[in-house]
Order: sequence, then C-alpha cells, then structure tokens
Amino acid sequence: MKEVGKIWMNGKLVPFKNAKVHVLTHALHYSTAVFEGIRCYNTPNGSAVFRLDEHVDRFFNSAKMYSMNIPYSKQQIKNAVIQTVKASTLKECYIRPIAYYGYGTMGLTPTLNKIDVAIACWEWKIGESKAGKASGARCKVSSWIRIDSRSQPMKAKAASNYANAALARVEALKDGYDESIMLNNQGKVAEGSAENIFIVKNNQIFTPPLTAGILEGITRDSVIRIIEENGEEVIEKDLDREDLYVADEIFMTGTAAEVKSVTEVDQITIGNGKLGPKTRELQKSFMNVVMGKDDRFLSWLKYI
Ligand SMILES: Cc1ncc(COP(=O)(O)O)c(C=O)c1O
Repeated sequence: MKEVGKIWMNGKLVPFKNAKVHVLTHALHYSTAVFEGIRCYNTPNGSAVFRLDEHVDRFFNSAKMYSMNIPYSKQQIKNAVIQTVKASTLKECYIRPIAYYGYGTMGLTPTLNKIDVAIACWEWKIGESKAGKASGARCKVSSWIRIDSRSQPMKAKAASNYANAALARVEALKDGYDESIMLNNQGKVAEGSAENIFIVKNNQIFTPPLTAGILEGITRDSVIRIIEENGEEVIEKDLDREDLYVADEIFMTGTAAEVKSVTEVDQITIGNGKLGPKTRELQKSFMNVVMGKDDRFLSWLKYI
C-alpha cells in the first residue's frame, strides 16, 4: 500500500499514516460496518468519479438495513469523497467510504457506540486485478454457500458478508484458481466473491436476478444499461452450475474487477478458452463509458 494523500475521518482530513482506530473498535470484533468501493478514473477531461450518486445511495441503504444512522448527509459524503480524492493527489484511484461502530463499549450491542465514518483512497490501476482482463480467470465453484438473505441482509454491502466471501476466495486460491463462484442455498449461481457474474450462450446474455441473493452491483447495472443502449438485452434468470460449464463466454463485473473474463470453471474450459467476442466488446464499451468517451453516459461521471 502506497501511503499517499490524506484520509477523511469524521469530517477531518488526516495524514494517511495517522488514520488509526483503537484495537477495541466495535466493528473490528463484530463486523459492524458497511462500506463502499468506488473508482475515480483519469479521463482525457480530468479525473472523474464513476457513479458517485449510486454508490452513496447504496452506502446509505446498506446502513439503513442495519439501522445505522450515518451522522452525515448524502451530500456531505459526496463532498467528502471529492475532497479526499483531491487530497490524495492521485489522478485515478479506488475510493473506500466506511461507516462503522467505533470505540467505546465492548460487547455485542453495537448501538452503545458512536458511528464513525472514514473515506480513504488508494492507487488501484485499471487492469491491475490479476487474471481476467486479457487472459481470463480460472474459477472454482466454492464449497462455501453464499449467505442467505434470511440470515443477514445480503443486499447491504456490509463487512460481515465478506467473511463468507473471503473463505471462498482463499479456498479458490489455495486450490490453484484465480477466483471463486458462489452458489446460493438453492444451488443456483449467485456471484463471485466480489463480483457479479454473467454468461453468454447462443448470443444471449444472462445474469442471476437480484433474488439470487447477490449484491446489487453498480457495474452490473452499468453493463446491463450499456448492453441495452447498444440494442441487445440481458436476461435475468436463475442459473445452474451446469449453465456455467456449457456457456460460450462468462464474464464478471465489479468496481475493482471492471469487466473480467472467466475462461475456466472447475477445470472445464469455457467456450474456446479465450477472451470471448462479447466480453471483449463489452470491456471496450465499458472503458469508453468510464473514460467519458460515450456521450450517452456522461451523467455517470462526476469530474472533480
Ligand atoms: C459480493 C459482491 N458482488 C458484486 C460486487 C460488484 O459490485 P459493484 O459493481 O457495485 O462494485 C461486489 C463489489 O463490490 C461484491 O463485493
């Protein structure tokens, strides 16, 4: 981690190195935190944050699902994101707002503690996430089942979801894969450990519905809207594990991952094992959108 710029903590910008919390911070013990992952792109017209409004809306919705009252308005958080990006001196970065129960009282009940909010930025170059952009990721269907929404609100981007996701990711890596694909408790395809998933079959594009218990990905939504604007459609339907194996193409979407291809699942080659034409086309369209080169989606960019 390159320690550059400042981190916004409860309304103040503090030097990166000094942005510390107490070891008895409630969220550290009980996962009582919600967060966001946002990207700022270095476009030809300057740095721009991608879909800031939607990310901040999701941040507040995640908090609401946990009855957490973020002690700032949405506008204050948006301003703080921009202030932090500016203070980072980075032209492109990954942005991480987090709201968490802080230090004060220990024990399960979170509400005795204050809700702290922080926003950090760091360098995360386009295409940096290892496999998937050019070569195609090798994925394993995880033995860990995605947590069910009856157990906790999986539409919230909450820290507590990520113990499950990390188990899946680590299992995949230990077994020599690049990433995991998680099934839900009905055995249907849910998502990657930190990405949504799409398959292409006979020129049609499919993705699991939100009712599969997945995160409502902002990249997922962006990709669906780009595909629709380009005159095609995405069919939201439950997918079986077998649908993955016989897909012509598989790709995953996420703020960090952007659009990444999957060329192998459980050691079964997907399509011809190469980056497929639809995935390649979509990667190109998505990059045009985030770089402000597609007028139809300029409203998704907040220039700073
Ligand atoms: C579990 C999970 N699914 C999907 C996504 C993709 O969401 P987004 O496109 O909003 O980054 C993420 C990344 O945040 C994630 O953690």
